[in-house]
Amino acid sequence: MARKRILTGDRPTGKLHLGHYVGSLANRVRLQDEYECFFIIADLHTLTTRPEKEHIDALRQNVNDVVLDYLAAGIDPAHSVIYLQSAVPAVYEMNLIFEMLITLPRLQRVPSIKDMARAANLGDESVPFGLMGYPVLQAADILMPRADLVPVGRDNEAHVEVTREIARRFNFLYGEVFPIPDALVGDVPSLVGTDGQAKMSKSLGNAIFLSDDAKTVSRKVMSMYTDPKRVSADIPGTVEGNPVFIYHDVFNPNHAEVEDLKTRYRAGKVGDVEVKEKLVKALNDFMQPMRDRRAKFEAQKGLVEQIIYDGTRRASEEGAETVSLMRKAMGLAGMWNRISRRAREAQSSQS
Ligand code: TRP
Repeated sequence: MARKRILTGDRPTGKLHLGHYVGSLANRVRLQDEYECFFIIADLHTLTTRPEKEHIDALRQNVNDVVLDYLAAGIDPAHSVIYLQSAVPAVYEMNLIFEMLITLPRLQRVPSIKDMARAANLGDESVPFGLMGYPVLQAADILMPRADLVPVGRDNEAHVEVTREIARRFNFLYGEVFPIPDALVGDVPSLVGTDGQAKMSKSLGNAIFLSDDAKTVSRKVMSMYTDPKRVSADIPGTVEGNPVFIYHDVFNPNHAEVEDLKTRYRAGKVGDVEVKEKLVKALNDFMQPMRDRRAKFEAQKGLVEQIIYDGTRRASEEGAETVSLMRKAMGLAGMWNRISRRAREAQSSQS
């Protein structure tokens, strides 16, 4: 039997960070052999808030960075398809059909659209049609290879829900073409930032990037937000919700060490410096294999382009197949075939 399929990916807005890793990348790496995987570099999605030419020109570097982050994280390009969204015609074709299968009020209720509009400084009157359609375009991505599973962070769960509704609606109207895909949210659906803000994010300046070197990780951790009420090391501190301990729980495999630090922290018997130094060590141990892989891949000239090229060709084949299934199911193919046949018959009877 054919393996089930995964589709997921990222907008090329910059380097990926630890939040991406625990939210989605870890699941991709874990499942890449069990599933047939498609990883999309969703450049078209960045146009929903930034369609300017200068912005498009700046994407090239980001595309390269994201693919290198994938490889560093452990995604094996020989087993998975990594592709550039804007170079796959099926995405545009599917997007148009799917726009007919969901209502505007439904899209207006997707919370992330309001968030993205706000982040881009777009008032109600300036929200592009295409930004409202962000989840529809994402449905086109997910259903393009007829995916079964979508590993994403919490912020993208609502988009997968829209995808499920569109897939059901298509199947109801035209016959079973699409599986109804499930979202798979990572162990840490939303990772706290180094500054204690709810979400690690490049734009908030509170991220540890997968590409950070050991010194940078050390600097970022040593200046991390901890328990603000704890002005000296001898007063009891709060572990719960403390970003330094959240990171220890996620990234430090030495559970005994973490429990010991927590006990002493609660009792006012350990300084922030020791807790942070141990976190620096844990994070750098965790990230070192990624650095080694990155160095290996970076040294191979043109490799990233080759991977994207091969992946995009493969994705385009898959997309053409899906569009053909859709057009058949909808009766569009039949109509066009009849018109073409009659046109040819008329032509040959004239000559
Ligand atoms: N919306 C995702 C993000 O927040 C990017 C994305 C585009 C995506 N298409 C996708 C994720 C399909 C999963 C599946 O960056």
